[in-house]
Amino acid sequence: MGFSQNLFLIITASVILVDVATACSNGQCKILDECSSNQDCGAGLYCFSCPAGFSGSRCVRSTITNQFKLLNNSLPFNKYAFLTTHNAFAIDGYPSHTGIPRVTVTNQEDSITEQLDNGARALMLDTYDFHGDVWLCHSFKGQCYDFTAFGPAIDTLKEIEAFLSANPTEIVTLILEDYVQALNGLTKVFADSGLMKYWFPVSKMPKNGQDWPLVSDMVQNNQRLLVFTSIQSKEASEGIAYQWNYMVENQYGNDGMRAGSCHNRKESPPLDDKSRSLVLINYFRSISKKELSCEDNSKNLINMLRTCDGAAASRWANFVAVNYYKRSEGGGSFQAVDFLNGKLLCGCDDIHACVVSSNED
Ligand SMILES: *[C@@H]1O[C@H](CO)[C@@H](O)[C@H](O)[C@H]1NC(C)=O
Repeated sequence: MGFSQNLFLIITASVILVDVATACSNGQCKILDECSSNQDCGAGLYCFSCPAGFSGSRCVRSTITNQFKLLNNSLPFNKYAFLTTHNAFAIDGYPSHTGIPRVTVTNQEDSITEQLDNGARALMLDTYDFHGDVWLCHSFKGQCYDFTAFGPAIDTLKEIEAFLSANPTEIVTLILEDYVQALNGLTKVFADSGLMKYWFPVSKMPKNGQDWPLVSDMVQNNQRLLVFTSIQSKEASEGIAYQWNYMVENQYGNDGMRAGSCHNRKESPPLDDKSRSLVLINYFRSISKKELSCEDNSKNLINMLRTCDGAAASRWANFVAVNYYKRSEGGGSFQAVDFLNGKLLCGCDDIHACVVSSNED
């Protein structure tokens, strides 16, 4: 090895040493700093790699900003935005409950409890009649099979019950793609899970575009669970709100991801129908692609929220539904919800700016 090669090695080695010496660790790393493990990243961040968005492994957000704690909960429910997990139950590695290996794609990778703990406040669940009970399945044609079944709905509902019980000021919304035909099937499983005590009654839901009750009143009354079904008749028969009586919703899947375009799914009234007080925006692929969701959940998502605000008669979304909610290029779905809450609460691009402007008042 010649002198110049040695010199080159020495220089290279010292560059690497300097690099290591200046790199953060031990919970000191900030958003988008390079990291080698979750422990390197500060609170509310974890170490993640998104080849579509950045090189190496970097700290990205893992939790929501709690809008009620940052500001207050004294406004109507429809003045806030909530992170929504699409197919919240279709979780990687969820053990087979039928003894038969599952053959279906997943949409999330955290447990329901982790989703809620990290700030998801609306969960999309697909409910089916199966084995004489209500199950959550990622299936087709309204029929659950052993190979498309995740598990009995009660297991998931009990996790939600535990969260509501441990977090007495939080509100959870369930949006059901509902295939349950059994008479009072849903009512029974909600009762068995202990969730009825949190039930927000249909009679208190605004029917003609009025504001929702105040979050503070919903909390005070302990009516902290909103449930919407896709089966219209259940509003009369079981007191379960028919989703599109209260909400407009854009097209889901690839058709809902075309930049610059935002229109209603066919079951929903048009997005600009203001007789529905809530706005739900879906932004996820028809067939989930885990390694692309970090890109989907970042800049493109916020661009779509802007497009959909325009399509919804200048109404910012209340619910934003994504796959693999924690995957991002930095702020991801959490930043998107901070953006929406900023718009909804003070006309700013980030809810944190609302705090500054209220201090200046
Ligand atoms: C709660 O926050 C909103 C948005 O910043 C503000 O308009 C309202 O005055 C606040 N209410 C109270 C009671 O502080």
